[in-house]
Amino acid sequence: MQDPTLNKGTAFSEAERDALGLRGLVPPHVQGMEDQVKRFLITYRKRSSDLERYIDLSSLQDRNETLYYKVVTEFIDEMMPLIYTPTVGLACQQFGQIFRRSHGMYISEKERGRIAEVLRNWPRKDIRVIVVTDGERILGLGDLGANGMGIPIGKLALYTACAGIDPIQCLPVLIDVGTNNQSLLDDPLYLGLRQRRTTGQAYDDLVDEFISAVSETFPKALIQFEDFANHNAFRFLSKYRERVCTFNDDIQGTASVALSGIYSALRITGGKLRDQRFLFFGAGEAGTGVGELVVTALTHEGLTEAEARRACWFIDSKGLVVKSRTDLNEHKQRFAQDHAPLKDTLEIIEALRPTALIGASGQPGTFTQAVIEAATRAAGRPIIFALSNPTSKAECTAQQAYEWSKGQAVFASGSPFGPVDYEGRHFIPGQGNNAYIFPGIGLGVLASDSRLVTDEMFLTAARTLASMVTETDLEHGRIYPPLKQIREVSVAIAVEVAKLAAKSGLARETLPEDLEGAIRKLLYIPEYFSYV
Ligand code: NAI
Repeated sequence: MQDPTLNKGTAFSEAERDALGLRGLVPPHVQGMEDQVKRFLITYRKRSSDLERYIDLSSLQDRNETLYYKVVTEFIDEMMPLIYTPTVGLACQQFGQIFRRSHGMYISEKERGRIAEVLRNWPRKDIRVIVVTDGERILGLGDLGANGMGIPIGKLALYTACAGIDPIQCLPVLIDVGTNNQSLLDDPLYLGLRQRRTTGQAYDDLVDEFISAVSETFPKALIQFEDFANHNAFRFLSKYRERVCTFNDDIQGTASVALSGIYSALRITGGKLRDQRFLFFGAGEAGTGVGELVVTALTHEGLTEAEARRACWFIDSKGLVVKSRTDLNEHKQRFAQDHAPLKDTLEIIEALRPTALIGASGQPGTFTQAVIEAATRAAGRPIIFALSNPTSKAECTAQQAYEWSKGQAVFASGSPFGPVDYEGRHFIPGQGNNAYIFPGIGLGVLASDSRLVTDEMFLTAARTLASMVTETDLEHGRIYPPLKQIREVSVAIAVEVAKLAAKSGLARETLPEDLEGAIRKLLYIPEYFSYV
């Protein structure tokens, strides 16, 4: 009863109560799971705030994991914004106050030199997916230190809910090297190390030790890097991607979900990928990640890399990313264009006449009325993605995008927005949620036991996701399938990813003839099993 993976609460049967010595420890009426779900939802839905609902869900996860996943899977539309963005952002900000029971592993400076030994403290041995953060760039909220643990916990819950990866094969990890967030350091309830961030070689060595320790302790684990600061995210991705089975969701997962949205949006606007001109707001992990995958997609369509790069223009906090600038890091330089330096957004739109605005700047309100009107003049039917998370950071709202473009925009966002009625039309804005992509990638990697995760896998995932958007979805401006179908989406992506792993010689498992059937057999179903 104390172990959330085994506990059934009031659902223990009469026979189980006798056999397991549980008589008297639970109320006499044996309740079915359906009634347990009802009971949970009654109080849950009466809560006055999303943070309270988040606490309810976390407590349920800590008490009865099967019931938690039943609720989350069955009501995925309702629960996704709670277990992930936007509510998880709030939960991370208040982590020290809402902490109830430890979940996942904390690897801090104190564990340096013995991380492998510490990982062996984890009670489960067959770990297949690890999500790790160092808390330095949580969503668009900045450095939240050890409070960032909410992110790996949330992402792994999505691996299970969206792709049926067994929760006992998942491990959330927070690498704690301190925080530079003074208000957290001053907060008596802060649970992380009370020091400023370790940087430089000492930081790299700790991450290196962690990666080696994982390879030693959990050799089949996929490691997903999450919410690392920009300067570390790119470095670690290129450092580890050829050595271990790893990817960075902020860079590659975002890229895939955005590219998929672009493919679907083009079915509405009627254009071709090769004829688009993309203007990215924000040249960080998310923005340049999308840019790189767009380039990969275009080169697959026959363009040279140089031609493909000419379709992708970036604005960062200093203006248009052009060759004459001397302040560009490597990932921005790859997109620097031959153009006069411009700063004013409207001037840039007039000069470039983009067909798509992709916002990943973390700067709310960047897509002003004037910007959207200019983009509509330039493109007719502009693709407008406001990807910054959480909702408070979005470049514009769904309502603004539809109104200011007079219903012409094809809109998607990072955090969810409700439907919008505009001049007799009912729009259902798509959420470019990475959860459409990473769980399926993880499932495909798990099924094939792939040694590495490649960019081609993200390209395949984007195409597969786009292929599942129906004409009815498009009629409402919805460029992603309904969340209800997310398990089917994940299975379809997993099949393609596993095939690709086999084709590229990365699979360590021989794939069965009925690959899809085999993948379906792997899926965790949140049902109680009988102990007697
Ligand atoms: P980052 O810190 O790596 O990059 C931010 C970029 O924005 C930098 O290049 C910066 O120069 C630029 N910037 C700042 N002010 C600007 C302005 N006024 N106009 C144009 N550019 C400006 O951050 P990262 O990881 O790229 O994330 C950015 C945002 O994207 C965050 O809010 C994050 O939550 C969101 N995101 C959304 C995802 C999704 O919707 N699926 C997934 C990953 C990230």
